[in-house]
Amino acid sequence: MASANLEDVSNEALMNEMMRRMRCATKPEKRVILIGPPGCGKGTQSPVIKEQHCLCHLATGDMLRAAVAAQTPLGVMAKQAMDKGELVTDDLVVGIIDEALHRPACSKGFILDGFPRTVGQAQKLDEMLAKRGEKLDKVLNFKIADSILEERITGRWIHPASGRSYHTKFAPPKRPGIDDITGEKLIQRKDDNATVLKSRLEAFHKQTSPVINYYERKGLVATLHAEKAPEVVTKEIEKALDLSKSSHQEKPKSLRNW
Ligand code: AP5
Ligand code: MG
Repeated sequence: MASANLEDVSNEALMNEMMRRMRCATKPEKRVILIGPPGCGKGTQSPVIKEQHCLCHLATGDMLRAAVAAQTPLGVMAKQAMDKGELVTDDLVVGIIDEALHRPACSKGFILDGFPRTVGQAQKLDEMLAKRGEKLDKVLNFKIADSILEERITGRWIHPASGRSYHTKFAPPKRPGIDDITGEKLIQRKDDNATVLKSRLEAFHKQTSPVINYYERKGLVATLHAEKAPEVVTKEIEKALDLSKSSHQEKPKSLRNW
């Protein structure tokens, strides 16, 4: 961030950010992938993991939706596939992840939510990380029966600016249709209907399930009971990410942003 911009930030916000960075300074690096079908809870659990472990949250679905809304060339290319519940091409998403990994916020590691979704994307990620001298720590497999997902998907409401998500039955906002924090309107995603869900699930089983096998062969997968209540899933994640007993070695840090 340029110093001119920092002058516009309030003292309170600046102090909060400094406190957060001090708290984060002692946290070990972590690189985590979340894999699971639509509605399994990736977006619900990501902010909790992000806050706890000081990681950046890179959700390819959110990034693509922002590009569609802004009508960028990337968004124009992605829109048709997304509306139909199909995957966009590997090249498009690999490019946005490669760029995002350079962000200062990712210096402690990352949560990849919705990427990689094909074995080709997983291989590209391996190449990107090898170039950076980094390794994955864990792949969280959100295992859940398809039959549970329609109710979750059709009842979801989101706050587009922050990515906060609600559910009419499981996580209702304080006021229907209104974000708890900002008071702004919630929306439903265009692909959150029963018809498009069918294609999204088909894409998951055909193209993304093999990615779980890919990481199983590397011994990185922890399988969660994603049908359970969110708090129970959070506890399972914490257990899976307690890497202190594993062989994970912290890399020496020099001039990092934390
Ligand atoms: P993306 O945005 O990634 O969608 P998705 O994978 O289909 O996953 P969702 O965001 O729908 O589900 P979630 O797991 O985040 O669920 P959430 O936590 O919100 O991708 C969209 C599209 O972009 C794709 O179809 C594709 O076209 C494209 N795309 C993206 N990445 C791509 C890639 N790498 N390659 C190619 N194309 C790509 O939870 C859902 C609801 O359930 C919420 O309302 C929540 O409150 C509720 N809930 C959550 N957990 C629980 C629980 N434990 N109990 C009860 N309710 C719960
Ligand atoms: Mg999501």
